[in-house]
Amino acid sequence: MNAAIAPTAPTGPATAEPVLKAQGLTKRFGGLAAVNDVSLALHKGHLHAVIGPNGAGKSTLTNLLTGDLAPTAGRVWLKGTEVTGWSNVRLSQAGLGRSFQKTNVLLPFTVWDNVRLAAQSRSRHSPFNPLQWLTRAGTDAAERERTQAAIERAHLSARTHAVAATISHGEQRQLEVAMALATQPQVLLLDEPLAGMGAAEAERMVAVLQSLKAQHAILLVEHDMDAVFALADELTVMVNGQVIASGTPAAVRADAAVQAAYLGEDETDVSAPGHAA
Ligand SMILES: Nc1ncnc2c1ncn2[C@@H]1O[C@H](COP(=O)(O)OP(=O)(O)O)[C@@H](O)[C@H]1O
Ligand SMILES: [Mg+2]
Repeated sequence: MNAAIAPTAPTGPATAEPVLKAQGLTKRFGGLAAVNDVSLALHKGHLHAVIGPNGAGKSTLTNLLTGDLAPTAGRVWLKGTEVTGWSNVRLSQAGLGRSFQKTNVLLPFTVWDNVRLAAQSRSRHSPFNPLQWLTRAGTDAAERERTQAAIERAHLSARTHAVAATISHGEQRQLEVAMALATQPQVLLLDEPLAGMGAAEAERMVAVLQSLKAQHAILLVEHDMDAVFALADELTVMVNGQVIASGTPAAVRADAAVQAAYLGEDETDVSAPGHAA
């Protein structure tokens, strides 16, 4: 830890209660602390980026926040309510949306159907059952409205009726964001939404995320440093499960420990050697 940059205070700025707050989150897999005593806060209108080399614990942290994994230690609050140990379904109902590092899109379905399934998951407590849900298609005006709004907000309106398998990789990732938006989340947790994208696709996704910032508290796990520095209001750097620095992007970029451990000479390539333990 570099003394020049204090870890993010778990309560965040005094001016606003965080939408999501995590304190001392730890996840052990056997002897490995994949996430080790991580605290952070997410605020509406702010994008908090988490960066770090492969294996740093970024996806595990995301999975702890979404309820896909139970923490070994630590606590999480959503809008002031402690939600530690809540299931992902319950957290989604409570206002937490996510996209996955690995794509979650149903390729044989249209953009509309994928987003509609997500919209339905917000309004129904039943376990995931696409066939059951599709037979109810179009019966719920509120779901249709949520579906259309989510597609628009992900800048995918032109592809609404395209089969997901036929749209570009970048558009599939936008579709994932639309699926998260369809659950009307207050918090958006995005795990590498720019993964595998070319420059033009990445630019489109950055534009989507930029336009979403005002309405949501966003956690962005991302390797694309141009995108991170274009979007982030706050930046946390993880290495080997631990936060080595957290603060404004400018402060983190200037931090000597971060440069040594992570950003290296070519800060666009986070997979570059030099960060290994
Ligand atoms: N389900 C799991 N079981 C055991 N080890 C895991 C599991 N998930 C992740 N890990 C390990 O935890 C560490 C952090 O992984 P991950 O969170 O995927 O990192 P990142 O997303 O930063 O690349 C890695 O060493 C990984 O191998
Ligand atoms: Mg990951």
